Amino acid sequence: MSPQSCPRTPPALFTWQFATDPYPTYAWLREHSPVHRTVLPSGVEAWLVTRYSDARQALADARLSKNPAHHSEAAHAKGKVGIPGERGADLMTHLLNIDPPDHTRLRRLVSKAFTPRRVAEFAPRVQELADGLIDGFAARGTADLIHEFAFPLPIYAICDLLGVPGEDQDDFRDWAGMMIRHGGGSRGGVARSVRKMREYLTDLIHRKRADLGDDLISGLIRSSDHGEHLTEGEAAAMAFILLFAGFETTVNLIGNGSYALLRNPDQRQRLQESLAAGESALLESAVEELLRYDGPVELATWRFATEPLELGGQRIGVGEPVLVVLAAADRDPERFEQPDTLDLARRDNQHLGYGHGIHYCLGAPLARLEGQVAIATLLRRLPDLRVDADPEELRWRGGLIMRGLRTLPVAFCPATP
Ligand code: HEM
Repeated sequence: MSPQSCPRTPPALFTWQFATDPYPTYAWLREHSPVHRTVLPSGVEAWLVTRYSDARQALADARLSKNPAHHSEAAHAKGKVGIPGERGADLMTHLLNIDPPDHTRLRRLVSKAFTPRRVAEFAPRVQELADGLIDGFAARGTADLIHEFAFPLPIYAICDLLGVPGEDQDDFRDWAGMMIRHGGGSRGGVARSVRKMREYLTDLIHRKRADLGDDLISGLIRSSDHGEHLTEGEAAAMAFILLFAGFETTVNLIGNGSYALLRNPDQRQRLQESLAAGESALLESAVEELLRYDGPVELATWRFATEPLELGGQRIGVGEPVLVVLAAADRDPERFEQPDTLDLARRDNQHLGYGHGIHYCLGAPLARLEGQVAIATLLRRLPDLRVDADPEELRWRGGLIMRGLRTLPVAFCPATP
């Protein structure tokens, strides 16, 4: 009997097979153990929340703190919770690690600088980046879509937006590459890259303070509310979290999204026809559906109970960590019709891919812009794009929070210059 059909045997979590296709396991958990206690590969015990209604409730529950100091095991002190390398640094004071009222104050300040208007004005630059990257491989007829497109696009985009000078952006690309290659493994290497980024950002903020420009870092320094400003440390932490939260997520949106489209030719053809007709409505709903169907953030970030609470029939004790499995919630048949089907025109698609509640993704407008430009440009420039690998051979990165392909070999008719 397979684990999926036996209600008493929880299927294996966090194996390579699980990373390749976690959805049958999540279906089992939703049905048999919707709030499930497990031991993570790091040895930390946590609750996994897999049903849509419980997930939404947990994401908005003020009794679940984002501050790792509330963790009963103090695993954060051992570097097992949170972003490697952030511990003991000013970088700790970022939006995903704090609660109101500090969170409210910092989010208000950053929102004044990181406005939807700033993102909209950035659209031509994102288009230029996407075209430039495709120019780099279009004549070849083959490419690795992750390394040559999905990975560089968001890192150059966020660097430009923040105001990292062009000559320094390749350093960022290297540090980010280290994080993404070893996100699930070599914490030493990741910690070193995080440290270098921190030192660089602190220095950049210092320099910008003396010479403010139009970029987002200058906006963060300028931003004030009732006479309050971000301190230099807070501005560095904010720039860092924008980079950290906005980079691998978008890589995975482009990577997972392209892969899902290439594996669903009828859906992809529909989108191509709609783009050729100059329509944008299907592109917008398509990117939302790709986020729901195989989104970049598999698990929301850590939360810790500050008082005993009940969730999905389970009692969660004080200090116990709760991980909301967005990927499982977004395939819940109680919430979505035919959840395992990719339907680019899906209506009523209130997915949790960007989270929910006060920590709802601050960068969602930028992510949507990058996702839409990337997918539309790929389909327009490389209309016969296809996967050039046996799906069985594709490997997924094994990190806890993010879900993304390591590589995505593709082939297409070479473009003549
Ligand atoms: C497709 C791409 C993206 C996805 C799927 C995504 C998803 C998420 C999710 C699920 C959360 C909430 C996490 C939680 O509650 O535990 C979040 C928060 C956040 N995201 Fe994104 N994100 C994306 C892109 C971006 C970008 C491009 C930026 C900025 C440049 C960004 C900045 C942030 C920030 C700052 C937070 C913390 C907000 C807070 O705590 O108030 N994200 N994101």
